Amino acid sequence: MPTYRPTPTDSFPTDTSVLQRETEETLSKHIPSPEYPAQPLHRNAHLQWLVRNLVQGFPARYTSQDASQSWLMFWTLQSLSTLQAGLDPGNKQKAINTIMSWQHPDGGFGGGPGQAPHLLATYASVCALANVGQPGPRGGWDQIDREKMYRFFMSVKQPDGSFTVMHHGEVDVRGIYCLLVVATLLDLLTPELVAGTPAFLASCQTCEGGFSSSSQPYFSSSGDLLSSPRPPLGEAHGGYTFCALASWVLLRSFQPPPAGVDINVKRLLRWLVMMQGSEIELGGFRGRTNKLVDGCYSWWVGGAFALLEMLGVPAPGKGETPAAHDGGDNEWDDVDDALFNRRALQEYILYAGQHPTGGLRDKPPKISDAYHTLGCLSGLASAQHYVVPSSTRREETTLLWESNADLSFDEQRKNAFADALSWVEEEGASRYVGGSADRVNAMHPVFNLTMTHADAMMGYFYNQTVLPRLRRNV
Ligand code: FPP
Ligand code: ZN
Repeated sequence: MPTYRPTPTDSFPTDTSVLQRETEETLSKHIPSPEYPAQPLHRNAHLQWLVRNLVQGFPARYTSQDASQSWLMFWTLQSLSTLQAGLDPGNKQKAINTIMSWQHPDGGFGGGPGQAPHLLATYASVCALANVGQPGPRGGWDQIDREKMYRFFMSVKQPDGSFTVMHHGEVDVRGIYCLLVVATLLDLLTPELVAGTPAFLASCQTCEGGFSSSSQPYFSSSGDLLSSPRPPLGEAHGGYTFCALASWVLLRSFQPPPAGVDINVKRLLRWLVMMQGSEIELGGFRGRTNKLVDGCYSWWVGGAFALLEMLGVPAPGKGETPAAHDGGDNEWDDVDDALFNRRALQEYILYAGQHPTGGLRDKPPKISDAYHTLGCLSGLASAQHYVVPSSTRREETTLLWESNADLSFDEQRKNAFADALSWVEEEGASRYVGGSADRVNAMHPVFNLTMTHADAMMGYFYNQTVLPRLRRNV
């Protein structure tokens, strides 16, 4: 068994350093050896685990997630799609009916029937509907009350461009991301909705380069919003960083940030790179400095690198035509051109992230759960595939655009549509640690949906033609 160097410590153990050491010991047992052979993707075990949760119901321990039913649905359906599987028509209809029971009479979706509308639950419900819904009387898509949803969005808007996650709730960048994804998918973006939001997002970037959950405004004694200085920020975290960066990318297409408002991309890139664990941590990602690697950051941090492509940060060596490959070991040389170690991330997910009885997890010896199953599978997708914005696809999309002369911001709408649908899986650049039998679908880097689900939903709600894609990207 190969031995790797533990993270150096000083002679002053702390809770953090002890936990780090224990984690490294556990993870190192998952490095392939004669006793523990390299694991392929246990696709069937995961499919069975997902379907059992959906059809027979989640185990009793999930009762604490009563307000996250929409998330359990999204994590499960999206994991199935990532594994290239779908539901039969009967179970699809049941899923649609269940999701629609969460729509609130005043707009937006709650986490369960009769629950208050919430931006996070709205994202989860709409993205679940992107997986199983369709136009038509019982298909879910036409039953989304878009006007009321827009009013709900405006009702949680704050004077500094941020949004509370629900009425009387907290402000954070998760809510902004969820709102912007739904508004982009359902053609609800307006200049009024997003006024001030780029500046708010930029104000959440910390000195480390990642983003914190939120920044707080100061108000004058007469209640006027003061632009600066703002109080110190919380800690940069992978989850919030993904949300802020994806929001920034989405907004930039619809409305470029005003002069003087920007994020520091170089510092962000450095921080993202620093979140990848060492060999003894099997190359998994952590969510914040000096904390433990965890499978869910495979997506929140591993998935964030693709977003940088929209900001003009290409991987070193990009532009060269990648060699054709069949997953063989000696074809990984050019992988070092990527901005993170794609091979190592796949190894963390396959060797440490998979629970032997199905589903994926934070790390061994934990059990699998719905959230980490999707985080690991989406992360696996971002490590297997190289997804980039294609200027050709963007141009072709804009040529097909049918303008709406009644809308003063139709040009902005077109840009949002064309940018969102310009992402493509770069031909010949996919790499699979265990061979191509382990392939999962590529993800849309902003929405965390498969490309074809994003295409179909946006094409329908914008009433625009969407260019076809390669068959295998289902
Ligand atoms: C810290 O947990 C984690 C948080 C405070 C939240 C992180 C945010 C996300 C994962 C993004 C969610 C996004 C959406 C769209 C809902 P911890 O202290 O248990 O974990 P850590 O030690 O890894 O930081
Ligand atoms: Zn986690």
